[in-house]
Amino acid sequence: MTNLAVIGTQWGDEGKGKVVDLLTNKANVVVRFQGGNNAGHTLVVGNQTYALHLVPSGILHPQKLSVIASGVVVDPDVLIEEMESLAARGVTITPENLKISERAHIILPYHKTLDQAREAGAQGVVMKIGTTGRGIGPAYEDKAARRGLRLGDLRDLNSFKDKITLALLEKNALLTGLYGLKAQDAESIIQSAQIWVKKLLPFITDTFGVIRQAADKNLNILFEGAQGVQLDLDHGTYPYVTSSNPTTGSVAVGAGLAPRDLNSVLGLVKAYTSRVGEGPFPTELLDATGDRIREVGREYGTTTGRPRRCGWLDAVVVRAAVKLCGVDSLAVTKLDVLGGLKEIKIASHYLLDGQKIDYVPASLSDLAKVQPVYETFEGFEGDITKSKKLSDLPYGARVYLDRLSELVGAPAGLVSVGPERDQTIMLRDFFPDSK
Ligand code: GDP
Ligand code: IMO
Ligand code: MG
Repeated sequence: MTNLAVIGTQWGDEGKGKVVDLLTNKANVVVRFQGGNNAGHTLVVGNQTYALHLVPSGILHPQKLSVIASGVVVDPDVLIEEMESLAARGVTITPENLKISERAHIILPYHKTLDQAREAGAQGVVMKIGTTGRGIGPAYEDKAARRGLRLGDLRDLNSFKDKITLALLEKNALLTGLYGLKAQDAESIIQSAQIWVKKLLPFITDTFGVIRQAADKNLNILFEGAQGVQLDLDHGTYPYVTSSNPTTGSVAVGAGLAPRDLNSVLGLVKAYTSRVGEGPFPTELLDATGDRIREVGREYGTTTGRPRRCGWLDAVVVRAAVKLCGVDSLAVTKLDVLGGLKEIKIASHYLLDGQKIDYVPASLSDLAKVQPVYETFEGFEGDITKSKKLSDLPYGARVYLDRLSELVGAPAGLVSVGPERDQTIMLRDFFPDSK
């Protein structure tokens, strides 16, 4: 039995969706354990592209179980839309192959309004993070403040209404008083909730029990991370982070699994770096090379369509993720995008006030000052998207991969050379005893 976590080591969008879809082939259960529909995971299968936000990326495999566990925050309208549009495309979605936690918190309309008002700097209250505007932060705030509503609350709409009415006392004071916006009313939320009850209740269950049972049967469980380590609430570039923990530790909390049951961690590393939204990015390229990477790599947000900021691979960032998350192998993605560049760089460490450092400073003012120190590689030519084994890659690409592994301290377990399933060089069997 293998329980494998797939974790983004950078600022998200490393290609987690592609890799999870691919590995589901040999897994039995795929679990989303944190984040919400701020995530955008893209799957390309033949001429079909699927952009998933809440439904786990194993869903294209109808006989495998997909689970949205308790650590996820769920916008019911987005989830219903996603489930229905997948079903309309012929994807099997039933209460047998998709289970949603009764403990997962609900993203309510006022969470989205508050998120967007803060981002817009309404009434001069300016604190721009560059969020996805999907209400993720405000929903997690309410969870921590113990005033959130959970999917299981949909089982009793009378008490659901009482809870919403109470919540709105505070939310409306904020919306009208501080942000100068319209008050929201409980009645329209209840109307939506009636639809949520009808469409989601059959899927809502105790997912802890489901996952525990799978683990006890020695089934292979794949934990699908969202976002990436530098967006982690504790370990990322705070406050320019998301409101959950995309690090390995939250697999145990967000899915309900004993830490010792997790036995492998795959760190997703894009062969360069991208970041969406505000916040520090030491290896960002604000030049023609950055633009070229964005265009060739199609670096535009899956969730918001925003252009992603692009830059060189930052080994300081990935090395931190390897240590923090217990990464035992890497999935290096989008190597093909670097093809044709004259030279390629990796930041091996930083200089801070002239001193060599090997960590991402917690202080924003220190982060603003760090200077990446680069190793430079000769570029490689040619289309590598058909490579099936390492020896198919041009020499320059292999040198780059070897040094990347060495610098971050973990071996490559797979290399992705294109968005499709078969555009992958497998170097390891992730589920050696799959049933
Ligand atoms: P995620 O959030 O980590 O799942 O990543 P996204 O789906 O947001 O962004 C990754 C993008 O790169 C998607 O459009 C994928 O289809 C695409 N992709 C994944 N792996 C590769 C690869 O190896 N090469 C190329 N060219 N595209 C890839
Ligand atoms: P996947 O799973 C990239 C970023 C936002 C913003 C910050 C906070 O596709 O890798 P939030 O809406 O979470 O409060 O925004 O986090 N962000 C992501 N960036 N990929 C993601 O997910 C992201 N999810 C959130 O752009 O900077
Ligand atoms: Mg994404």
